This record gives sequence, structure tokens and C-alpha cells, in this order.
Amino acid sequence: MLNLSQKGWLLGTVALLLSACSVPPSGSSTSPQADARVEEILSQMTLEEKLGQLNLVVGDLFNTGPTVNTNPSDRFDEQIRQGQITGIFNIHGAEYLHRLQKIAVEETRLGIPLIFGADVIHGFRSVSPVPLAEAASWDLKAIEASARVAGEESAATGMHWTFAPMVDISRDARWGRIAEGAGEDPYLGSLVAAARVRGFQGEDLSAPNTIAACVKHFAAYGAPHGGRDYNTVDMSERLLREVFLPPYRAAIDAGAASLMTSFNELNGVPVTGSTWLLRDVLREEWGFNGMIVSDWQSITEMEYHGFAKDRAHSGQIGMEAGVDMDMMGATYLEDLPALVKSGDVPMELIDQAVRNVLQMKMDLGLFDDPFRYGSVDREASEIRNAQQLEAVRDMARKSMVLLKNEKNLLPLSKDTRKIALIGPLALESNKGEFNGCWSFFGQPGEVVSVEAAFREAMPASSKLLVAEGCDLYSDSQAGFKQAVKTAKQADVVVMVLGESAVMNGEGASRADIGLPGEQLALLKAVHATGKPLVVLTVSGRPLELSWLDENVGTILHIWTPGSETGHAVTDVVFGDYNPAGKLPVSFPRLVGQVPIYYNYKATGRMYEGDYSEHGSERVYRSRYRDVENGPLYPFGYGLSYTEFEYGEIRLDEPEMSMNGTLTASVSVTNTGKVAGEEVVQLYIRDLVGTATRPVKELKGFQKILLEPGESTTVSFEIGTEDLAFWHDDNTWYAEPGEFHLFIGTNSDEAQMVKFRIKDASAI
Ligand code: NOJ
Repeated sequence: MLNLSQKGWLLGTVALLLSACSVPPSGSSTSPQADARVEEILSQMTLEEKLGQLNLVVGDLFNTGPTVNTNPSDRFDEQIRQGQITGIFNIHGAEYLHRLQKIAVEETRLGIPLIFGADVIHGFRSVSPVPLAEAASWDLKAIEASARVAGEESAATGMHWTFAPMVDISRDARWGRIAEGAGEDPYLGSLVAAARVRGFQGEDLSAPNTIAACVKHFAAYGAPHGGRDYNTVDMSERLLREVFLPPYRAAIDAGAASLMTSFNELNGVPVTGSTWLLRDVLREEWGFNGMIVSDWQSITEMEYHGFAKDRAHSGQIGMEAGVDMDMMGATYLEDLPALVKSGDVPMELIDQAVRNVLQMKMDLGLFDDPFRYGSVDREASEIRNAQQLEAVRDMARKSMVLLKNEKNLLPLSKDTRKIALIGPLALESNKGEFNGCWSFFGQPGEVVSVEAAFREAMPASSKLLVAEGCDLYSDSQAGFKQAVKTAKQADVVVMVLGESAVMNGEGASRADIGLPGEQLALLKAVHATGKPLVVLTVSGRPLELSWLDENVGTILHIWTPGSETGHAVTDVVFGDYNPAGKLPVSFPRLVGQVPIYYNYKATGRMYEGDYSEHGSERVYRSRYRDVENGPLYPFGYGLSYTEFEYGEIRLDEPEMSMNGTLTASVSVTNTGKVAGEEVVQLYIRDLVGTATRPVKELKGFQKILLEPGESTTVSFEIGTEDLAFWHDDNTWYAEPGEFHLFIGTNSDEAQMVKFRIKDASAI
């Protein structure tokens, strides 16, 4: 229970929060009319009705993860009538949702509409690639368009709210949920976060074809020890502020209507109970006044963390920390009445939480027309239409990353006489795996398989041979013989190997991030035939591909591309689309290098020398004995069917003054034979600081399209705010001194020039 000083703090905080309502918002509207209506409703509510507005339940009670209630029932009717539910998530069907909404608005005392939410993580029925793959496009417009399709389709079925974007930075390929974010970099991650918010929410949250975003999982959920989901996170405030927090902030600045707290503890305090993170940083520093929802039972789980002494106490802590809505914990509904009556939880806190929930419903337009989202007709016509499928196909091919293409084996000619498609993921029967993790509205049967698309793309005079070789996980090699025989009959072999959908996503951490089951052995057997070989690798995370890199000439990483997988694959494989994806995350040589990331810090004992060298020179250095330090494929890496030549970097000035700007330019020429896109990347390094700085930090990029022989000049303007970093007194500023500026094709291959920020005294 609260002691007196805590109570004093709480009341102060409530006063501050109430006064903060007039501060320009992120998230919710502050149109005076809307607020007045919220206040009016709030003034009429009983405590029980208020707590009902804070209680969120799932449509299927068996799982914390992706499940759908496919069996619309009357199970919620009575609870809705009693005003005990604010909304339901992961149910769907316009007719069903309409019926439930009708009960809420017609059969409850105040007629407050329900909110319907869902985990629409990368598409609804038109499934896009997993978000990590989308980030590999470095194409913010395409990412925004993909989120818009997801929003439109969800809204057409009556959905109001998605639990996305997930913006957790992760440097750990073992963590299954790395699939759901934009990778390892705060700059790229922030731009992607904002693009996805814009895509879901559009210009007007109350429009019937936009849905509210929920940025998650605040905060630092992507850094669990050992890469094990839900595990402890412990990190410095500097790392948190400079690397992990920026994407949440960017999503909020883009207007995200809501935010979800994470399961993890951070530095000893479960985030769901962290007044520092939720009130001081999020509300006060960042000005967020949208709605805060817990993750699934993350309030009541504070008891298991050893932070709350029982369930009621967890509810009290969650409320005090500022979590407005309790997802699946039921502690607000069931335990807070007694705590409010005893005075341990002030009514002002409950009121503010209810205010935030009602305001979000108001902003969605639900008080004006609770049925504005979705109808049976819209469900039939506004889902999987040609435009939406084209958007997810475009997103899928833009996500693919060409890792190797020796002898330019790709693109294949459509007239290749015999192509063998080999591997478990080549099969029609496994095509549902391409929907990836978190795609429970996507129908496996609606995915275009690789096999079907090859048949569609190849002329009748060519032949497609197909062999499974092995299944996704088992240790059986029974199919190897047939696979090898099939390979021998072909002119070219295309293998499709990798993870199934459930091998990444929530609760899907892996300690071995190689190809699962017998797939590597199958590859070795087929490779031994000596046939020209293309490998398409499938995953929602970086894979360990060292054997492939050493032995296979052509590797295209396709991730899990979604509904239009086959079409996107044939677009790229047959050269109708020239791949331009760049990795948003480093691919390690060995899992033991994890966490591995490009923006690491120097040490006093860096090792950047010759790896064949022996002796003491090499021993007392920051390195491994058995593998070199760098990744197999670095952040920002990806090839094209054409080549780009970079000219020298030109700076308009070698020095900039504090608060000034500097422009860096480079000419880029397409020296190959086909048109292609290149992501030109700008990195900086601050050589000496009052705190050490990373060896590189991405500060800009531009995706350009060049015809063969065409050149263009790419310019980046850099301001000192781009060079600012966090200081212990919680201020951000750049320090004078020497910097390196890199421009190049990936984080490893880039030219460097030097510049300075002048000392204040020299200005
Ligand atoms: C738990 C997951 O962590 C979260 O991302 C998801 O939105 C909720 N479950 C609801 O399914």
C-alpha cells in the first residue's frame, strides 16, 4: 500500500497530468468539443462503469498469442451489458462485431461503444512481409502503403485498433520477435515507425477506413538477456535513450493514438509498473497524451516478477504508474474497487485513465457513429482487391535482399529449359508458411506459392520439376535421393529453405539460428551435384548462413513475403524486378557473435587486423579465437542486378559551426546493364566525446533509381542536431571536434571524409 509521501507524489502527479491535458498532444485530439463530451460522460459514470472501461478482453481465451475466435458466440453478451468490458481484441467478422456493438450502445446504461482491436502486424487478409522484411526495403512510402492496406482491410471488418507498429530495436537474432520490428538501427527504426503510424491512422482517425495505431512494446523489450523472450533487460540510460527509445518517440510524434507497455523489467523495475518510464519520460518529457494499454497480463505478472505482493497490489502499481487499460489481467475490474474505497488508489487516477480511454473512442468517431467501421458489404469488397494485392506484392519484392550473385546467375531466363524447385518451402502444400508469424487473419490457402508462380511465369516449352527433399524440421533424409535425382535432371536448381512461420514471432526464440532440421544437409547433397544453384532463404530473423556463403554462388533472402510470395519471387528471380533490399540488421557468421550490430563502440583493444595473424599481437585484443569480429553480411548490405559506382564525397565546408549545417554530396552512377535502385547511406562518427561514441551511426539515406549509364548527385544536409547525443543531465547536444562522415552502399563499404564542428570560441 502507499505511504504518505507516495500519496503526495501521486496527487501532485494527477494535478500535473490534468494540467498537461491542455498541452499540445501526441495521440489524441484535444478539440474542446470532444473533451467536453468526454468530461460529460465521465461525470455520469459509477466506479464500476469506469473500471469496466479499463478492462480489455480477448476473443479467444486460450492463448496469449495469435488466435482468432472463429466461433462467434454469446459468451461476452452479459459482460458487455454489465459494462464490464471496454473492448475485445482478436475477434473478427463484421456481422459479429456489429451485434456486440449493438449490445454495448443499446443495452448499457450509458451506451458507451466498445473498441475492437487486433494484432494486425503485417497485413490483414492481404498479408505483407513481416515488418523486419519491410524495413529491408528502406522504402518509407511502400511501408506506409502496406500499413494503409492493413488498416483499410481491418476497418472494413469493423476493427478500430491495431496492436502495431512494434518498434522494438533488437540486436539479437535469437529473439523471435525481431521479425516484428525494423531491426537494429534507431534512425531507420524511427522513420519506419512513423511511416507505419501514418499508414494505419491516415490523416483522420475517425475516417471509416483508418484505424488507431498502438506503438509497442514500451520499452526495450527487444533486448532480453540471452535473446529469450520476456527475459530481463538491464541497460544503461545512455543506451536506452540513444538506441532503444527513439523509435517509440518517433511513433508518438507521428501521432500514434495509443501505446502498449512491455512484459520485461528494465533495470529492476517491470516496465508496466515504471512511473519513471510511463509518467516522467512518456507523459511529461514527450508529451504523450494518448491511451496506454498493458500487454497481456503484464500488470498481474508483476507479482511473478517479485514486484507486487499479490494481484491487487499489481493493479495498484499499474494504475499508479499510469497504465490506463488492463489487457487480460482483470485486476483493475476486480481489485481496484476495494482499493479506491480504502483510499489506497485515488479516484483521480482512475478518472484520468478512463478519460484517456474515452478520448480514444471519441477520436475514432465511435461516439458519433459506433457502427461506422465495417459492414458485411465492405468486408466483401474492401478486402484483397487488386490494388491491395499489388501493394503487398510490391512490398514483398522490395523487401528481398540479394546476398550473393556470383557469375550473375540471377536473373534466370524464363526460357531455361528445366528448372528444379527443391526444398520444403518450395512446395504448394507449405505455402501457408509464407504468411509468417502473426498473420492469423491471412488464409494459408490464399498465398501464392513459389511453385504456382514458377508455373505461371514459365513458358509451356519449359519444364518445372519439384522435390521436397525433407520437411521443415524432422531428421529424416528419406527424400534426399529423389531431390538429388531431380536436381540432376535440371539445368538450374532453385532451393527454397528456411524457417516456418512459427519459428519466429512471440515465444519463438532460437539458440540455433541455422537452417532448421535437415535442410542444410539437403542443400549439401544437392550442391554436390554441381548444378547451377540459387538458394532462396526464408526467415523472420537473421539466419546463420556461413556454409551457404562459402559454397553457394547465389543467395536471395526472401524473408516471409506474405500473400503474394510466389509472384514477388518470380518478379525477382526472372528479372522483371531488380532487387534493391538492404539488410536492416546484421547477419552473424556464428550465433556466438550475437548481439552483433554495426554501431558498436571502440574498445581500448580493438582488433581490426589480419585474421590469419598469430601470436601475442592478436591475443590480447577484443576478438574471438574462432571467428572474426565482423558479421557475415553487414547492416545496410544488399546487391543488385546492376552495379553502382560512387564518386568522391564533396563537402561544401570542412567545418561547421554549432547550430550550423553542412552538405555532403556524392555522385552515383549505374555502371551496369539494367536499371536499378540503390540505397545511398550516410553514416557519421564522432571521434572524441565526453562520452564514447559508436564507430558509425546512420544519419541519412536516399533510395534512388538509375537507368544504365545514368548518374545523379545525392546530397545530404547535416545539422548539429543530427550529431547530438545524450548527456548525463538529460540534455542532447553535439560537441565540437573532429568527425568522420561516410557515404556508401552499406555500413561496411563506405568512403570517408573528415569534418569538424568548430569550438564555440572559434566561432
Ligand atoms: C502479447 C504480445 O506481446 C502483444 O504484442 C500482443 O499485441 C498481445 N499479446 C495481444 O495479442
